[in-house]
Amino acid sequence: MAHPILDLFPAGAAVDPDGTLTIAGCRVDDLARDFGTPAIVVDEASLRARAREYRDALTTRWPNARVVFASKAFPATAVQRVMVEEGLGLDVAGGGELLSALRAGVDPALIVMHGNAKTTEELRIAVEARIGLVVVDNEDDVDRLEQLVPPGVVQRVLVRIVPEVASSTHPHVQTGQVGSKFGLTAAAARILIARIEASPVLDMRGVHAHVGSQIMDPAELAAAVAPLAALGTFPVYDLGGGLGARYTYDDRPASVDEYVGALLAAAQEHLPADAELIIEPGRSMVNGSAFTLYTVTTVKRDARTFVAVDGGMGDNLEAAMYDQRYEAALAGRMHDEDAEDVVVVGRHCESGDVLVDPLRLPAARVGDLLAVPATGAYTHTMANNYNGYRRPPVVFVRDGEARAVIRRETWEDLFGRDA
Ligand code: LLP
Repeated sequence: MAHPILDLFPAGAAVDPDGTLTIAGCRVDDLARDFGTPAIVVDEASLRARAREYRDALTTRWPNARVVFASKAFPATAVQRVMVEEGLGLDVAGGGELLSALRAGVDPALIVMHGNAKTTEELRIAVEARIGLVVVDNEDDVDRLEQLVPPGVVQRVLVRIVPEVASSTHPHVQTGQVGSKFGLTAAAARILIARIEASPVLDMRGVHAHVGSQIMDPAELAAAVAPLAALGTFPVYDLGGGLGARYTYDDRPASVDEYVGALLAAAQEHLPADAELIIEPGRSMVNGSAFTLYTVTTVKRDARTFVAVDGGMGDNLEAAMYDQRYEAALAGRMHDEDAEDVVVVGRHCESGDVLVDPLRLPAARVGDLLAVPATGAYTHTMANNYNGYRRPPVVFVRDGEARAVIRRETWEDLFGRDA
């Protein structure tokens, strides 16, 4: 019988007769040999299929609409390039994501820039690159843009509002509630909109809202549409991102179709029929197309059975920061029977460095490969050098071929900024 965890891996996952996990025709033991562990492994076909699923779901039902990938969920140039090739635009938060979007070959007109604390330097890069939309979060953004936009040029902007929609996700990733640091409440937004409408260098295109992230119920996301509509009639409405992804056996996020259906039902009710709609999926676009491959470094059978791997908080902060639950499997022993309850821990110097707790596994041994599925979103993003950790590579697999699109950091990289 196929291991139930295969459902959580990308579509290209299978198991060889000897019990080794394969992905897009590549065996994980070969990947570990060629690229080392830990490694973030991306099934390129699955990533592309998801991008097309989003694009088709939205534009077949609302032709004047665009999907822009929220780069922050997986800010690798190669991932952004896939999105561009599949016809998507790119949402960027800050100068770094903007520069990598340009390297990925995106048409600058398809870039949407966000941030509640954009610096003058970042806005200068945006204006000079002639990006499509700057999402203004506050008056200071407008002050800076009015200084930066040269005569004869007009920068298109959206205004971010607080939709005052509460969501049922982790508090750290709620953004649409009263008191959020992002965007403006309706009264303040109206004043700023009037100012922008009078500006000779800014073009007031529309409004934006983002309710939060890892939201399973699309009704919570669609609830932002009415507050956006209440701000007035504009050419563009940007409905943000936020759809939840499936991490565990129990997770049941809405499908892309259900999500887009809920947004468009609200749009039909509240927005002008000829408005352009933008959505900005991040997590739900990329999470399911990747997994992280680790090697078991120690197994300690004591008060509990601690299966420790060669990564942890350095490559995945989701468990520590958002209590994210994961599943995992011994990727070279997929046919072995579960034998014990374990806790999968990382290599970092703190007790919060737990990847999966609890987990049923076959009796783990040092040197076993451990694969954690559903790690495409915000893992590479927030990877770090805690305890002198070298951030892992990102490996794309496709049709039996594997290539590192980001290499592993070297020891030298760790000291590359020493003065
Ligand atoms: N648009 C805006 C303006 C956003 O702020 C975000 C995410 C998105 C789109 C994409 O949302 P998604 O579809 O990925 O839910 N570091 C956290 C996630 C923070 C998300 C912030 N904004 C984590 O690791 O869970």
